[in-house]
Amino acid sequence: MLKTANRHAAASGLPALIPEPVSAVCGDGCFTLSAATVVAAGDGARPTAEQLAELLRPATGCPLPIAASASPGQPQIALALDSTAAGLGPEGYRLEVTPKRVALAAPTPAGLFYGVQTLRQLLPPDVFAAHRVEPAAWRIPCVAITDYPRFAWRGLMLDTGHDFQHLPFILRFIDLMALHKFNTLHWHITDLGTFPLEINGYPRLQDPATLGTRTRGEPPRGVKPGRYTQDEAREVVRYAAARHITVVPEIDMPGHSTPALIAYPQFDCPVPHKTWDFEHWEYCVGNEATYGFLEDVLSQAANLFPSRFIHIGGDECPKDHWRKCPLCQAKMKAENLRDEDELQSYFVRRIERFLNARGRRLIGWDEILEGGIAPNAAVMAWRADKHAATLAAAAGHDVVVALTSHLYFDYPETTTPLDKVYSLEPVPEDLPREHARHILGAQAQMWTDNHPTEKEIERLVYPRACAVSEVVWSPAAARDWPGFTWRLDVHRQRLAALGIVVEPVAGSAPAPAAT
Ligand code: ACM
Ligand code: ZN
Repeated sequence: MLKTANRHAAASGLPALIPEPVSAVCGDGCFTLSAATVVAAGDGARPTAEQLAELLRPATGCPLPIAASASPGQPQIALALDSTAAGLGPEGYRLEVTPKRVALAAPTPAGLFYGVQTLRQLLPPDVFAAHRVEPAAWRIPCVAITDYPRFAWRGLMLDTGHDFQHLPFILRFIDLMALHKFNTLHWHITDLGTFPLEINGYPRLQDPATLGTRTRGEPPRGVKPGRYTQDEAREVVRYAAARHITVVPEIDMPGHSTPALIAYPQFDCPVPHKTWDFEHWEYCVGNEATYGFLEDVLSQAANLFPSRFIHIGGDECPKDHWRKCPLCQAKMKAENLRDEDELQSYFVRRIERFLNARGRRLIGWDEILEGGIAPNAAVMAWRADKHAATLAAAAGHDVVVALTSHLYFDYPETTTPLDKVYSLEPVPEDLPREHARHILGAQAQMWTDNHPTEKEIERLVYPRACAVSEVVWSPAAARDWPGFTWRLDVHRQRLAALGIVVEPVAGSAPAPAAT
């Protein structure tokens, strides 16, 4: 939050930062980026210095040479890894802008990277343009910022399982996340529309005949065909890691598995059935062959994605035909399971043991609480009426808040408006304080059931993701809707330079004026 005592000092150039930093004290004057500016990178800071220079060069045209050090009189942006800043935590940074020098220090490269994102936002919005622009000057207002995130899990979910998106779009999605200091891309890879990830040994997963047929919208749109090779998945992981974003893959099971079951019906229950509109929906979890298949898929996914968590879905599995399936019923008998909820729980525990043995943790949608949660599992709480975040966190399980009520961005803004998103408090009120540490953070979901185009996806995600970035990064006490609206008015210009047109917020507050 801006130190109000200093607000008037820089009222005309008050930094409009999203997410709002922990503390920003405005000074007098500014640093002007020019052809004479060098980037000084101390030990270990060079990769981030290169990222900074690459981000600033296209619009400014400044060469921004990188050197190990610069002479004191030279206009410079100095990046330093600084262990004395360890108190800021693993993602914190300090940024000080004076007329002669910009100094960015952090205990880790991640902290430096977030400082770079703030520095970009201190420049005129045109700095985000992909081509050379000529503003009056590339001024950075003098300011001293200390900043670190509130939550460790700051995420967006992208759904390529209802509909496919191309690789360049996913990389751009990651760039936009980085600008907002998100650090987790939950990649919902598979669902009822498509299983687009190449899995060695199972070539039929991307057979066009497996694409979901349900169409919605006017005119109706089908699932776009496409696949990600394993090399492309590695490219997504590498690209995200360079931006300090972890990709958490989701292979949805045992429900939402239509394409895999069209491709390999031997893993479905051997009884005729329909779940909702679908002849194939959930795996037969009484069949040992199913576990062999899923373990093949998960071990390949784990090799591609080095994330601590692997998401296994677990949502919306009605289990009706497990009741009629001789294999599922035999498994229940053999394992002493009372009902089909316990059967799903048995399945999730078994998958958890498989992942834990490979050093990974399982995360699943909050249905994994039903029938008894697996011992080390983390829960993604999506159903607002189930109090899953409170139940799971109070029982000692880690939780990521992903509520339909505030964080489903496939819903239009008329249903989930920006101010509602901004009002979200991730730590449930009814959760005893001593369990609050189990709320790892929150994330917004971009589902693609309605087959949006890639442009439409960006327009659904922004500016609501700007609000989420502040919910998960900024201190709870800094939440300030009028303040957010005037900062967003400036931020809209940055997004416009990046090719995302966002309407002005109705009734947005004016920037604080000089007193
Ligand atoms: C979900 O919306 N099925 C998690
Ligand atoms: Zn079965």
